[in-house]
Amino acid sequence: MDSVKNMLALAVSGALGGAVTADEVLSVIEVPADTKNGDLAMPCFRFSRVLRKAPPVIAAELKAAIDGSLAEVKEINAVDGYLNFFLSPSFYVDVLKRIAADEGFGSSDIGKGKTVCLDFSSPNIAKRFHVGHLGTTAIGGFLKNLHDFCGFTTVGINHLGDWGTQFGKLIVAFKKWSSPERVDERGISELVDIYVRFSAEAEKDPSLNDEARAAFTEMERGNEEYLAIWRGFKEISLREYMKTYELLGVTFDSYNGESFYNDKMDAVVDELRDKGLLVIDDGASIVRLDDYNMPPAIILKKDGSTLYATRDIAAAIWRKNNYDFYKCIYVTSAGQSLHFAQYFKVLELMGYDWAADMVHVPYGTMSVNGEKLASRTGNVILLDDLFAEAIAKVEKIMEEKNSDLADRRAVAEAVGVGAIVFNALANNRIKDSNFVWEEALSFDGNTGPYVQYTYARTASILRKAEPDGAGYDGYVPEKDETALVTTLAAFPAKVLSALADYEPCIIARYALDVCAAYNVFYHNRTILKAEGEAKAFRLALTGAVKHVLGKCLDLLGMKRTEEI
Ligand code: ARG
Repeated sequence: MDSVKNMLALAVSGALGGAVTADEVLSVIEVPADTKNGDLAMPCFRFSRVLRKAPPVIAAELKAAIDGSLAEVKEINAVDGYLNFFLSPSFYVDVLKRIAADEGFGSSDIGKGKTVCLDFSSPNIAKRFHVGHLGTTAIGGFLKNLHDFCGFTTVGINHLGDWGTQFGKLIVAFKKWSSPERVDERGISELVDIYVRFSAEAEKDPSLNDEARAAFTEMERGNEEYLAIWRGFKEISLREYMKTYELLGVTFDSYNGESFYNDKMDAVVDELRDKGLLVIDDGASIVRLDDYNMPPAIILKKDGSTLYATRDIAAAIWRKNNYDFYKCIYVTSAGQSLHFAQYFKVLELMGYDWAADMVHVPYGTMSVNGEKLASRTGNVILLDDLFAEAIAKVEKIMEEKNSDLADRRAVAEAVGVGAIVFNALANNRIKDSNFVWEEALSFDGNTGPYVQYTYARTASILRKAEPDGAGYDGYVPEKDETALVTTLAAFPAKVLSALADYEPCIIARYALDVCAAYNVFYHNRTILKAEGEAKAFRLALTGAVKHVLGKCLDLLGMKRTEEI
């Protein structure tokens, strides 16, 4: 489609004797929402001033000048100041052929030789995965797939929150009220329970807090007994997170969490001091950011201990040295935007020009059935519970539809989890979103199940097809068919714009567009019962839709469902 637009732009610019450049023409050629007057439209309004003519006159003159001279164009109409082009059947046939022959259609190699670090999910250990973690995990997973698809080398990093005073509390609580056996048996729930108990008991007996602080200091000094307990907490947490990651199809290349940077922090603090950036303020060491309208970045607390930001600065430098990244991307809720803006600025002030390659990708809050979730108010919905409920609901829907699939459970899992993931990715990421069961699970709304269902439809048609060896060179596609080819042809451009904006909803919505165009075609045309060139063209079209939808599902981190 781009090549034909280019060709038209050159022809129009040529016909105008270069008074308007081809680039200017290109920028106004569009695929109209309603294609009754043409497959492509070019409004002439913008050229009116330079050419000193009314738009309808320009359109009429252009039609006279180029109609009949372009092989790709079947018909040109001048209507109300627009120049409309109907493209020739052979053009669509050629586009489909090119898509069908290209196994990597949609992918690119613009990232070749470039490494991108993606820091996402990154939960604080000893806490359970809840709905608040879905955004970072699903968006991060998507961005990793997207970068892979565009030829980048990706490093998925799970920057686990595995260091800080809370682990001193957990160790004290563990020694008082728990045991390795109990933790092994009850998993994270045990850790959560003893942590809650600690908070309650410390209210009555504040000396517990001193004990906890001392325990954490011991950890920092390398007390092996404490570190072994802490490693156990980490293991138990990861064991549970892995199940969730498996369901989501998300993988990481590194689990270097905050603790990994313990021994790398002194050097950072020294460097900040040497570069004259560190200021002592009320006992704490800070970097002032007043000139940038931000509160100071706190590097060391009064007691000399490091903070989240200190560890992030150390991590960024370590990653640059180790991966020589082209970009380092962080996916977190918008609530952390200030944190990232602050420490990116600190890196810049340290003289690192690569600070410009640090990208924070924020996202809005997700509510479930209109309720905001906050762990502080105790109003948490655990991700596992949400998945389990979705899977059960989908299984029930499948039962009602009398599905006799052998692996019904596996399909229900793919569709149930897919529905939740799609819902999390289908809206502008920065906007707050709401999860409503009936909407997310509907098979004919703008949902994950609808996309997976349409994908399964293409798969089923192709399974049943018995191609008779006919080609489709001379086929004259119907309007719903050319519309579908046009939609498919947009895939590579959609991929690149999703990449430029770090925006999953571009792909999610595009997948819905493909489904809508395919389903119109499917209802208007026979496929398996068609014959000759018509059948060949429609099967090729179905194959191309399967390819594009399959890639969209892969990118979004949803499972392909060959049968529903
Ligand atoms: N552990 C943090 C949290 O749960 C997210 C970490 C994001 N990554 C980073 N490098 N700061 O909020």
